[in-house]
Amino acid sequence: MRVISVVGARPQFVKLAAVANGMKDTAIEHVIVDTGQHYDSNLSEVFFDDLQIPKPDVNLGIGSGSHGVQTGAMLAALDEVFTKYSPDCVLVYGDTNSTLAAAVSAVKLHFPVAHLEAGLRSFNRAMPEEHNRVLTDHAADLLLPPTQVAHDHLVREGLGHRSVIVGDVMTDVCYLTRDNVKANPVDLGISGAYLTSTIHRAENTDDPIRLKEIISALQALPNPVALLAHPRLQARAKEFGIELEKGSVQVFDPLPYPQTIQMMLGSAGVVTDSGGLQKEAYLLEVPCTTIRTETEWVETLVDSWNVLSPEVKDLTNAVMRPKPSAPTKSVYGDGAAAKRVVDALLNFSAQS
Ligand code: UD1
Repeated sequence: MRVISVVGARPQFVKLAAVANGMKDTAIEHVIVDTGQHYDSNLSEVFFDDLQIPKPDVNLGIGSGSHGVQTGAMLAALDEVFTKYSPDCVLVYGDTNSTLAAAVSAVKLHFPVAHLEAGLRSFNRAMPEEHNRVLTDHAADLLLPPTQVAHDHLVREGLGHRSVIVGDVMTDVCYLTRDNVKANPVDLGISGAYLTSTIHRAENTDDPIRLKEIISALQALPNPVALLAHPRLQARAKEFGIELEKGSVQVFDPLPYPQTIQMMLGSAGVVTDSGGLQKEAYLLEVPCTTIRTETEWVETLVDSWNVLSPEVKDLTNAVMRPKPSAPTKSVYGDGAAAKRVVDALLNFSAQS
C-alpha cells in the first residue's frame, strides 16, 4: 500500500514523526510531501532532524501568502505529485491550509483521503483552522479522530461510519521527548518560576489593538515569561510598533521541539493560543492559560488544568491560580496512537 503524507507546518511535522516511525517495517510504502508552508529552518528543518523524520520525497516550496494564494498554489502543485505517485491513500494532518489543499486535490483526482486529527471543532467560524477542519473531514474517506469527543462531532455531522478513534499521535511524541529531555536537559537561559508563552493565532496577532493588549498583559505578569515568538508574531509586532521584550517578557526565537518540551516541563505555567501547547501542557501536568474564547481540546479544561482567558484583563488572576490537585487523565491515548493509525490505514486498504 502506498500512502502519501502531506505536511507543511510545524505541528504537522510532530505528527508526521509519530506516523513515519509507526510505518517503518510495515506493508506501507510511505511517501512524504512537504508543501513548504513553513520554510524557516527553526519551524521546519530542525523538526525533521531532531525527531528523525525521513527527508521529504518532495518539497513544493510554496511558502507564505494569503489563504487563497497559498492554498491555490498548493492545490495546483499537488495535482501533479498525486498523479505521478498514484497513491492508495493520501494522509492529511490537522487543520492547516496544507491539509485542505491536499484533501481537495486528492478527492478531485479520486485518490482516497485519510484525515488524521479529524473531528476537532472550535465552532468558531471565523478561524481559518475551523474552515480547514470541517471541509477536510467532509472530503475525506477515512477519519482518524484523536478522542471520543472528536468522534462524537463526526457522528453528529453524519460522518460516524467513516471514523476510527486512534488516539493522539502528538502524545506519542510528547511522552518520548519528555523522557529524553529529562535524561539530557540543556541550558535554556531561563530558570525559576517562569512561564512559557506562545502567541500566533491570526485573531490575536493581526489586530494591533488586540495584540498590544495581549503583549502588555504578558509584560505585566508577576513571573518571568519566556515568549517563544513565532515569525508571524515577530512580523506583526514590528509592523505595529509593539516592543515585545519589556517588563516580565524575555523573547526567544521558536525553539526546536525537545527544547520546547523542556521549557514547558520546567515552567510554572503555560500561556498560549496554540492547540498543541494546551495539550502538551496537560500531558506534562503543567497548568495552562489559553488566550482564546474556546478550545478544541476540551478535555484539558477538566479540573482547571487549562483555563480560557480571552479577556486579557483577567490574565494575571487566571495564570496565578493554584496548581490543580486532581491528577490529569489519560484521555489522549497511551502513546501508541501511530500503531492504530497504521492498522486503520491497512484495514481501509484491505476493504477498498
Ligand atoms: C499555520 C496554521 C496554524 C498552525 C500554525 C503552526 C493555517 C491557516 N494556519 O499558521 O493552524 O497552528 O501554522 O505554526 O494553515 N512565516 C515565516 N516563516 C515561516 C512561516 C511563516 O516568517 O516559515 C510568517 C509569514 O509572515 C507568514 C506568517 O508567518 O505570512 C503566517 O504563516 P502561515 O503559514 O500562513 O500561518 P501560521 O500563522 O504559521
